[in-house]
Amino acid sequence: MELQNSGFEVVIIDDLSNSRIEVLEQITEVTEIKPEFHQIDLRDKKAVYNFFNENKIEGVIHFAAFKAVGESVQKPLDYYENNINALVYLLQEMKDRNVDHFIFSSSCTVYGQADKLPITEKAPIKLAKSPYGNTKQIGEEIIKDSCKAYNMNAIALRYFNPIGAHESIKIGELPLGVPQNLIPFITQTAAGIREELAVFGDDYPTSDGTAIRDYIHVVDLAKAHVKALQRLLNKQNKENFEFFNVGTGKGSSVMEVIKAFEKVTQQPLNYRIAARREGDITSAYADTTKANEVLEWKPQETLEEALLSAWKWQQKQS
Ligand code: WQD
Repeated sequence: MELQNSGFEVVIIDDLSNSRIEVLEQITEVTEIKPEFHQIDLRDKKAVYNFFNENKIEGVIHFAAFKAVGESVQKPLDYYENNINALVYLLQEMKDRNVDHFIFSSSCTVYGQADKLPITEKAPIKLAKSPYGNTKQIGEEIIKDSCKAYNMNAIALRYFNPIGAHESIKIGELPLGVPQNLIPFITQTAAGIREELAVFGDDYPTSDGTAIRDYIHVVDLAKAHVKALQRLLNKQNKENFEFFNVGTGKGSSVMEVIKAFEKVTQQPLNYRIAARREGDITSAYADTTKANEVLEWKPQETLEEALLSAWKWQQKQS
């Protein structure tokens, strides 16, 4: 939607394995422009070839990946096949057709547990603590090498924790099955769909013992993508491959999120303390200076606004 609002003609590719076709109608209701849609599994090399053969593409924003840290520990091969093979097939077709503007959904998980907080882009890439994080590290390396060898231009946006729904409450997170991420699990618990929220660990070395993350409104995140694509299209990038942390710069513990949710929604939340989840780190929140200054991008929404939008979206689903 943000791309359409900025005048781009948008073509969406999705295999609908973790999303619903109704999203197209919801986008159209908000922007009154129905995006072109192709149901393609990017692991299908021939289908990717055919798409690029039949469509003139100026730039690609690659969101299509599995993204649950915990799930990746249980299903590593699914994550390597989907997050790596699909990326390679996409880049191969882009190279062959000189489509050389590429935005990549990366993740703060590339930093593992950073030694210094807030995390800047200068923080070392550490051994990933989950197969998901490893696919993002490998993905960035593949892109960096491809940019160098084939003179492509790419920007990796290292997401912190995307949450919330569009202000129209017509678009939001739609996890299929049991939610892996905190916010949809909270909203489904508050809606009575889930019995209670399990808080994965209260023995972390933090103020209240629960893990800290940087929760960024998904619309703020979307706007960062538009800025990044415009940077490449306007040839403002200084390197073939650039990367930016995209967060709010503020860390919130799981308990702080629960309390903030209860406050903004007036919904008491049923939760219990459970064991830590394998693959989790203690704390991650962004130093956003580089994105603020270079991309001229700043997040606008607060944690509370994001949580309220997520709750309103959840109430619409019931
Ligand atoms: C957040 C916190 C959990 C569920 C996500 C995405 C990943 C990447 C980074 C973009 C952790 C705790 C969770 C629950 C809990 N984003 N939690 N009970 O693991 O930080 O990773 O952001 O690339 O794609 O998955 O997010 O929402 O799973 O967990 O206590 O039922 O909430 O332990 O501390 P995570 P999350």
